[in-house]
Amino acid sequence: MHIGAASPGDREGILRLYGEFNEERIASGVGDAQYKTIDGGLPWESTLDDEDCMTYVGKEKSFVAGFITLRLPEFNPFHKVGRLAEVDLMTVERKLRRRGIGSALYRAAEIQMKTVSVTHILLNVKVGNVPAMLFWSKMGFKKVSKTQFKRADGIEERTIYMVKKI
Ligand SMILES: CC(C)(COP(=O)(O)OP(=O)(O)OC[C@H]1O[C@@H](n2cnc3c(N)ncnc32)[C@H](O)[C@@H]1OP(=O)(O)O)[C@@H](O)C(=O)NCCC(=O)NCCS
Repeated sequence: MHIGAASPGDREGILRLYGEFNEERIASGVGDAQYKTIDGGLPWESTLDDEDCMTYVGKEKSFVAGFITLRLPEFNPFHKVGRLAEVDLMTVERKLRRRGIGSALYRAAEIQMKTVSVTHILLNVKVGNVPAMLFWSKMGFKKVSKTQFKRADGIEERTIYMVKKI
């Protein structure tokens, strides 16, 4: 498995995985990743061209098996203690999970974040996404808060925020 920064040739594979991620979200009852849809007004795809975002892929030859996108946001609630990065999205091909791809991707991204002086990484997990909760706990993230609100499409969104000091 080769882990590295995403290149334009990885785009199709990343978007295939993003589609799979959204299908899984809908099937689990938490709705689609509504805030960023591929065909919506604010396409998630634009994240790949956003200078504030970094995407890393895990590849077997040219097959994209997983990716992680991090954002270095303008708004930083931790500005007094350091520089923040946020995990925007991470997903691994369904059939290839539990083989260490997610861990390898996250660890490579964390090393990269340290080189740009990031001190804390923030992310959110939907309540009920047990694999993700267990995964992020194993990566050293701690729960910091929980939110709950009703989306415009009526779906009750319950989110856990987790942080790691790196
Ligand atoms: C979360 C996700 C990225 C993990 O990727 P992965 O490649 O399967 O992760 P790894 O194989 O590196 O797992 C590392 C550890 O995390 C924990 N873990 C991961 N998936 C788990 C599961 N389904 N059940 C229990 N523990 C799990 C285990 O401790 C595992 O170590 P182990 O296999 O030695 O026991 C993957 O499940 C995924 O793509 N989920 C769908 C998208 C998603 O929910 N993304 C996160 C949004 S916040």
